[in-house]
Order: sequence, then C-alpha cells, then structure tokens
Amino acid sequence: MSKSKLIFDHNDEEVELENGSAIAEACEEAGVPFACTEGVCGTCVIVVKEGKENLTDPTQEEKDFLGEGTVDERLACQCKIKGGCVRISF
Ligand code: FES
Repeated sequence: MSKSKLIFDHNDEEVELENGSAIAEACEEAGVPFACTEGVCGTCVIVVKEGKENLTDPTQEEKDFLGEGTVDERLACQCKIKGGCVRISF
C-alpha cells in the first residue's frame, strides 16, 4: 500500500497522502497556521494523537524548538508521513 492517511482529530477529516510525503500542505488546507515553514517559529505545532511512529523522526529544528521531552508535539512543516495512519490535532 503506497498511501498514508492523515486524520484531523477535531472533525475526523481524512486526507490521503503518498507514503513519504510532507504533511504541511494537507495541514495547511485543514487550517493549521504556518509561518516560517523552516522549523524555527513554532507556529505550526500539532499534537500527534495516534500513529506518531508513522511520522519521520523529529528534525534538529524540531528538537531545538520542542525539546526532547515533548514526544507528542511536532512541527507540521517538518514532518513527513512514512505510511499508515496518523491522527493529529491542532
Ligand atoms: S511554520 Fe515555523 S516552525 Fe513550522
């Protein structure tokens, strides 16, 4: 299966994405605010409710901004979906 699914927790909207694609565009369409798109401003913080193992590992920018301990928070501009389902809220 080459499609992944991104689910928005507030309205159960599902978006299909190619495995390995960035989630930023789908998030932006769903209403997640973006600014820098480079992992520095923190505008695009999302909370991963399910399937965090299906996202790529946090980038250095995410670690710098979010710290190591906040495992359920990600920066939507930095994440790619590897496969399967990921449920997020924002
Ligand atoms: S848009 Fe600035 S950190 Fe993602």
